[in-house]
Amino acid sequence: MKHLLTVIGARPQIIKAAALSRAIAAGYSDRIAEHILHTGQHYDANMSQVFFDELAVPRPEYNLGVGSGTHGAQTARMTAGIEEVLLARPFDGIILYGDTNSTLAGAIAAAKLHIPIFHIEAGLRSFNMTMPEEVNRIVCDRLSTLLFAPTQTAVDNLRAEGFGTPNVPGRVVLSGDIMYDNSIHFAAVAARRCDIMQRLGLEPEGYLLATVHRAGNTDQPERLAAILEGLVQSIGTTGLPVVLPMHPRTRARIAALPGLAALLETPGMQVTGPLSFLEMTLLEQNARLVMTDSGGVQKEAFFFRRPCVILRPETEWVEIVDHHAGIIADADTGRIVDACRTLIANPPDDYPALFGDGHAAEHILDTLL
Ligand code: UD1
Repeated sequence: MKHLLTVIGARPQIIKAAALSRAIAAGYSDRIAEHILHTGQHYDANMSQVFFDELAVPRPEYNLGVGSGTHGAQTARMTAGIEEVLLARPFDGIILYGDTNSTLAGAIAAAKLHIPIFHIEAGLRSFNMTMPEEVNRIVCDRLSTLLFAPTQTAVDNLRAEGFGTPNVPGRVVLSGDIMYDNSIHFAAVAARRCDIMQRLGLEPEGYLLATVHRAGNTDQPERLAAILEGLVQSIGTTGLPVVLPMHPRTRARIAALPGLAALLETPGMQVTGPLSFLEMTLLEQNARLVMTDSGGVQKEAFFFRRPCVILRPETEWVEIVDHHAGIIADADTGRIVDACRTLIANPPDDYPALFGDGHAAEHILDTLL
């Protein structure tokens, strides 16, 4: 039996872990024992607990409860807590997801204890070092034993950095995207179990879905203002309402800038709190168009054949843009409205299978064993 420690902490990691835990329960539990550690980076019920309940992620065996803080303080508390767990009993490896501070902490703690690191969603690059996520993913990749790349672009990024040569150990594996596994699995569940469309009074194809949570957008008032203005003007241009589920940080920043709060009162703006994964899945499937600065939401839009306006200066998921299913509009009001208009007038019809075969979790587990 192999004992693996899975580290999760932020909302998207709980979602990604669901795919692997589900696959372990279905076919690998005789060979793999998964032990889950929640750092506590996300702690609000609607940012954390709801995902465990809804996605059937096993209860964490360890909960560090670190909460919020500066990057240094938060990462340090997590690193110390993870190290303590890794020292208390032998583990055959640690599973880390994505690019959050929880990922970074797990990589540092495990690397110093010579515990093999398995990085899921390896090789993504924005080439923008001002993003905390870019720092986290580069460090985690460099320390990893097995790097599970979701796309060919991610494999190419790692090869360009020398992975696979003697000086840069770490084996790169093209596994496909574990988020695609989840979207396939949960799309049907959401359609059966979820009444969010009725609750918000929405019709299929009858609204635009938007999310904004990146530090690079929320923490710069002029960028946040330009994006919100872009959403408001998109309502006017398309005649469709904008549904905006709000991350707690975004809500806090808007509340601190009185001019912005008024924009949320525009007719057609439907602001909600953070939604569950099933609710988001259903809203993504039925939206006319998605506008987001989230990496995960960009991809989910693509999985569900929805065009996407990307509210960032660049994207890690370049294949979405290359296939004309997404347009980079940055935090530029005019570009946001133009992108919206273009994608609605000429919706893409080609959404090829760029993210694997829906069995990334099994490929990952077979490789681990
Ligand atoms: C983190 C990840 C980001 C990911 C996002 C998903 C890092 C560096 N970034 O960003 O890549 O896309 O998670 O949501 O790890 N807060 C609450 N309640 C919570 C959690 C956070 O109110 O349950 C507030 C706090 O004010 C906190 C702020 O949100 O300071 C930001 O949270 P933080 O943990 O720093 O990261 P995210 O911005 O969520």
